[in-house]
Amino acid sequence: MSADDKTVLALVMRLWAHGGALLSWEHLGVDVRGHERTMHALSRLLEIGFDVRITPSGVRLVPPDDTPCSHEGLAGLGVPIVCAPVVDSTNTMAAMLARAGAPHGTIVIAEAQLNGRGRHGTTWFSPAGLGVWFSMILRPSSPLPHPGLVSLLSGLCVLRVLRLAGAHEMVLKWANDVLWRRRKVCGILVDRVDWPPREAYVTGIGINVHHRKADFPVELRAKSASVDMALPHRANRLALTASIAGEILKAWSVHEPSGFTEIPEAWNAECGTIGMSVRVGAEGELFVGTVQGVDERGALVLTLPDGTRRAITSGHVEPLVSAP
Ligand code: BTN
Repeated sequence: MSADDKTVLALVMRLWAHGGALLSWEHLGVDVRGHERTMHALSRLLEIGFDVRITPSGVRLVPPDDTPCSHEGLAGLGVPIVCAPVVDSTNTMAAMLARAGAPHGTIVIAEAQLNGRGRHGTTWFSPAGLGVWFSMILRPSSPLPHPGLVSLLSGLCVLRVLRLAGAHEMVLKWANDVLWRRRKVCGILVDRVDWPPREAYVTGIGINVHHRKADFPVELRAKSASVDMALPHRANRLALTASIAGEILKAWSVHEPSGFTEIPEAWNAECGTIGMSVRVGAEGELFVGTVQGVDERGALVLTLPDGTRRAITSGHVEPLVSAP
């Protein structure tokens, strides 16, 4: 993490702890040398979406009304919760906690991420006030034969909760996307953490919730959507977070003892790309084929143009017909 990022984190923690009240410059301890660094950190907070009010007497940070960073709002889950207004990446922080022995179910939630991580080394756009960005530590009782099923299970849980909230046209796309009208609403990044004697998985969930089209960076606009776009009302990020985390904990306790054997069939029933022609970049090769669904390991099964079947364990799927 850069020195600038550290200043941003230190500043936002102080402002957030004030719960929306004005913090005077004097209290912020801004001296002549530090002033420029503080102003730079404040403009970074504005840039990543925080409602920061700068006045001659001090600074106020107004927390969004439905912030998922709420110990009280998530207490019913009965698992350890780490909430922070800003982190580098909730997955990175959860992986550190998992290595330090944090128990099954531990959740790390942030209002915004400075370096949100996506699959295949991409970055994940995670500003304040708009989305749900959290990670959960999952600890199997014995090593998982098919780790790919963790992300399928997480995607199914997100889909169920969004449907229950009234977002009906949501479907799944391998490996771990939730789409609305072919545009991505949610992405999931699963990291495996070795912590002998028990491995852990960190499932990191990113959901675009309140974004309007213009809130996405230009390069994401054509392929991204948000929960609010799919609903007749404004979603509540705290309620979504609590329901999804609860759903994952429940699904894990139901399916982990039997090795998640029922997940592939449940996932295929919700997959929106079965029968579609797609292009998949995997293992340094490019495959074009028709999606059949996932197999018992969670691998994507394609029928290639020569009629052969190919199972792909890791890759990026692009439908050959793009979003309208
Ligand atoms: C993808 O590329 O589709 C996966 C995106 C996963 C983003 C989430 S946001 C919360 C968690 N923390 C991260 O750094 N990434 C995941």
